[in-house]
Amino acid sequence: MGKLDGRVAIVTGAGRGIGAAVAEGFAAEGAAVVVNDLGAALAGEGQDLGPAQQVVARITGKGGRACADTSDVSNFEQSRELIARAVKDFGRLDVLVNAAGIIRDGMIFKMEEAQWDAVIAVHLKGAFNTTRFAAAWWRENRGGQYRLINFVSGSGLYGSPTQPNYAAAKMGIVGLTFSCANALGGYGVTANCVAPVAYTRMTASLEGQATVMNYSADNPRISAANVVPPVIYLAMEASAWLTGRVIESGNGSIALFSNPVITRQVTKNGIWELDEAITEMEQSFRPAIEQPNPFARKK
Ligand SMILES: NC(=O)c1ccc[n+]([C@@H]2O[C@H](COP(=O)([O-])OP(=O)(O)OC[C@H]3O[C@@H](n4cnc5c(N)ncnc54)[C@H](O)[C@@H]3O)[C@@H](O)[C@H]2O)c1
Repeated sequence: MGKLDGRVAIVTGAGRGIGAAVAEGFAAEGAAVVVNDLGAALAGEGQDLGPAQQVVARITGKGGRACADTSDVSNFEQSRELIARAVKDFGRLDVLVNAAGIIRDGMIFKMEEAQWDAVIAVHLKGAFNTTRFAAAWWRENRGGQYRLINFVSGSGLYGSPTQPNYAAAKMGIVGLTFSCANALGGYGVTANCVAPVAYTRMTASLEGQATVMNYSADNPRISAANVVPPVIYLAMEASAWLTGRVIESGNGSIALFSNPVITRQVTKNGIWELDEAITEMEQSFRPAIEQPNPFARKK
């Protein structure tokens, strides 16, 4: 008995890296998987049928069920066809995992418009495109235990200084996910984010660098496969209690982030005087924000 027997999933960006590991993990647990991947280069250029087809071959070679799809998730109409593909080939859609991604890094003061637009288009608009059509199908087909799982990043959660486009896109996806958790709960949908940590082509440049993670192709702890167990749980019917959350997975750790909450508040029954507001903020807020940030730039 697989933990996802009878379930149908779409995994975007599943031709490589974490998406491929999720697709293979889902299939090993009995899900039928639409393996979507445009086959793009790391910066988003080009198209190649090969990666999606290779993952499908690995899944079917082990007796699993999968089909390859090369829709570009940044394209609204192709995303409509991607969702329709799951229903056409496997009869339904239970789980949507948005893992497609590219990077075009650069400091904010040098970033070109095209760098910004390309990263927002694949990550943020791509997550919207697929989610929009999945949500419409879920709304029309009530009674299921549906799951939306969006890959985000510590780059957004902590604020990577060299990735303003990527950080913004990923935090946009966090907001999209929170909104979907509230909008779609009544249709049996949970919506969560996963911030992964894994050695893939996206993080290969970190190999050998003095980070707290040992990014290396030879380190199984930081493999894409080690991200997957909590993603399988999020896809299962048993995780119905878990929605509107951000979970970090990878390098042997599974962590639950807190959702934004007010930690300090000062109020006045009337109009604030400027000096009064400054004093209140310094006295109340300042002690609350002395927290470590791994990306904080040393002066
Ligand atoms: N590797 C990490 O440590 C890490 C950390 C934080 C977040 N992430 C996120 O996890 C996800 C997977 O990343 P990865 O490391 O496996 O990267 P990867 O580059 O190995 O895989 C990403 C895949 O997305 C595909 N893709 C790109 N544009 C596409 C499009 N328009 N339509 C469909 N497919 C497209 C690519 O062809 C590629 O196969 C991404 O969303 C990434 O931002 C990864």
